Amino acid sequence: MANLSLQHVCKIYPARGGAKKSFFRFKKNKTESEQRQSGEYVAVKDFNMEIEDGEFIVFVGPSGCGKSTTLRMIAGLEDISAGKFYIDGKLVNNVDAKDRDIAMVFQSYALYPHMTSYENISFGLKMRKIADVKRDKNGNPVLDKDGNEIKIMRHYTKKEIDEKVQWAAGVLGIKELLQSKPSDMSGGQRQRIALGRAMVRGPKVFLLDEPLSNLDAKLRTTMRSEIVKLHKALKTTFIYVTHDQIEAMTMGSRIVVMKDGYIQQIDTPTNLFDYPENKFVAGFIGTPQMNFFKVSIVKRAKTLEVTFADGQTVKLALDKLRTVKEEYLDGQEHEVYLGVRGEHIKIGANGLSVKVNITEVLGSNMHVFFGMEGEESEFILCLNEREVLENGGNIRIKFDENRVHMFDIETETSILGRAE
Ligand SMILES: Nc1ncnc2c1ncn2[C@@H]1O[C@H](COP(=O)(O)OP(=O)(O)OP(=O)(O)O)[C@@H](O)[C@H]1O
Ligand SMILES: [Mg+2]
Repeated sequence: MANLSLQHVCKIYPARGGAKKSFFRFKKNKTESEQRQSGEYVAVKDFNMEIEDGEFIVFVGPSGCGKSTTLRMIAGLEDISAGKFYIDGKLVNNVDAKDRDIAMVFQSYALYPHMTSYENISFGLKMRKIADVKRDKNGNPVLDKDGNEIKIMRHYTKKEIDEKVQWAAGVLGIKELLQSKPSDMSGGQRQRIALGRAMVRGPKVFLLDEPLSNLDAKLRTTMRSEIVKLHKALKTTFIYVTHDQIEAMTMGSRIVVMKDGYIQQIDTPTNLFDYPENKFVAGFIGTPQMNFFKVSIVKRAKTLEVTFADGQTVKLALDKLRTVKEEYLDGQEHEVYLGVRGEHIKIGANGLSVKVNITEVLGSNMHVFFGMEGEESEFILCLNEREVLENGGNIRIKFDENRVHMFDIETETSILGRAE
């Protein structure tokens, strides 16, 4: 068990295949653009986070955003280019991977094909030495001439190894597989063996890098809850990497959303959904994706008048919206993105008039795709009941005012506070 502290952690990869010839190649403390010109690649930028003992943290973000790189720096498989990383208050930037007490499980299970599950799980333990004191046949410490215990390093005994393997196999429900070889097992079973191998090491921290990506959809869902159960049983700190936001939302106690090497937001699943701090997080979390309308807003008495691309206006009651930052309520017009999820739009009289492009009936509920003049993208409305709507016809829609989001058009950061 461990607390982790990452402070201003960065990863800069050196230029691949020899640096491009550049004036900035040998300069230290380069700016980002100088780094690009010298061919270096900044994969993780200013990563700051405190992770409490026993948390289940998920790193999520699109491909190439720096999730694996961050995980590998935590594991000690990758040097930290700048910043500090502490485990339980101890600076470990220069501590070897093998001395960090961290176990990592990858997408490729990396099991030895010629070994049984038992051998795969126990292999690392056989290699490992632990600190003990010299003992006699009965297991009692032998003392030196001054009456002190004699410190030694020794291998695990067969019995100790067996106890650990049986314990892990029991927790993972794979006792009957211990004599099978990986080639005779399914993907999910192999993944459990890989988890078992990590568990018997009794690590302070578990790192899992897309461990379920090789499994089919159904097995992924099962294994997802298995891993959550495993975390509950072990009570160890888990860091789990995925690019699947549903996996992130269902597993993590806190989620780190990353993009282009930067942390976008660190929050609980429900806060990410309810209070995304910027447009990227808003669009990344939740299915179907949030709708974004390019609008201008202006405060008029107790309402916020919102003008859409096609010129229509709607009035949103300020006391129903989450608090809007003062500077947007100065009586002037401000351009913003109005974000609203499909499930927070209703069909209602005297609302905004939009054109139905197509409808999709999904059993008991329904998706309505609609468009608006002046907006290139298509929007979505989710209905809980089925309705007959004519393609190409107009409907009137209303937004749940308390579930509306707004983001500055330039910075794309939220201009709304959280609900009290
Ligand atoms: N050894 C390396 N040398 C140079 N650049 C690298 C190296 N390893 C990774 N990168 C780059 O760093 C960036 C972050 O990579 P990383 O593997 O952390 O992404 P990721 O978020 O795990 O993505 P994915 O979801 O595809 O696994 C990528 O743009 C990648 O090309
Ligand atoms: Mg990765």
